[in-house]
Amino acid sequence: MVSVRHLAASDVDAAVTLHLVVLDMEFLSRFGPSFMRTYYRAWTTTPGSMSFVALDDTGALIGVLLGATDPATHVRAMVREHGVALARAIVIAAATRPRLAKDLVVTRAGRYVRGVGRLLLARFRPTAGEPSADAPRIGEVTHVLVDPAAQGGGVGRTLIDAAIAFGREAGDDELVLVTPPDLAARHFYEALGWRSDGAMTSRSGEPFLRYRYSLR
Ligand SMILES: CC(C)(COP(=O)(O)OP(=O)(O)OC[C@H]1O[C@@H](n2cnc3c(N)ncnc32)[C@H](O)[C@@H]1OP(=O)(O)O)[C@@H](O)C(=O)NCCC(=O)NCCS
Repeated sequence: MVSVRHLAASDVDAAVTLHLVVLDMEFLSRFGPSFMRTYYRAWTTTPGSMSFVALDDTGALIGVLLGATDPATHVRAMVREHGVALARAIVIAAATRPRLAKDLVVTRAGRYVRGVGRLLLARFRPTAGEPSADAPRIGEVTHVLVDPAAQGGGVGRTLIDAAIAFGREAGDDELVLVTPPDLAARHFYEALGWRSDGAMTSRSGEPFLRYRYSLR
């Protein structure tokens, strides 16, 4: 029997351990456990985020979902409240991993710096870039991962159901996500009724497939 609840600070170590096993191919995972613990801790407190864990009947953590009901608010809060700790963890990780440092500079450094600059600017012009009141409210799922030993048993579905219910309650009209084309996860999202919305390339040059789920 699987149960789902919000991610708590006490879940962070187990969630990071699972993340680094299941999504070891992800760029984020290359920063290592210390950065990932800072990142997960940030997720437990930032406004606009949604974060769930799935537990088995012994209470062991067997799945995680991270996302945001209000991605813009969530990113701003991440930078404002945790930006310094995250930047410090990135610098420490890059200092001990030269290959990671090189890939970081080549694919992401300029974009990260520009993004933080835009967010700082927005503090002085608080209404700049805010969506109009009648724009659709779009939440997003950024990570879903299930312990390999528990995959295929409905845990992923339970986590997605929790995100759908939470997004609806928060007033979202739709949820979106992207997934790499080479991952079997796209079959999972299709089985759960997500609508394929074409391919895209991230600003860091990686290919992704887009999916949407209407909450109306
Ligand atoms: C993708 C993932 C989250 C799915 O979780 P799960 O607990 O294994 O999935 P569920 O058992 O809840 O499956 C729900 C439905 O999706 C289908 N499904 C799940 N994985 C599938 C796959 N690889 N191929 C085809 N269908 C799949 C199931 O058959 C099921 O459909 P059904 O109820 O109609 O039979 C999990 O396999 C995982 O962590 N994979 C590795 C990490 C990953 O790729 N994450 C997503 C990218 S960020």
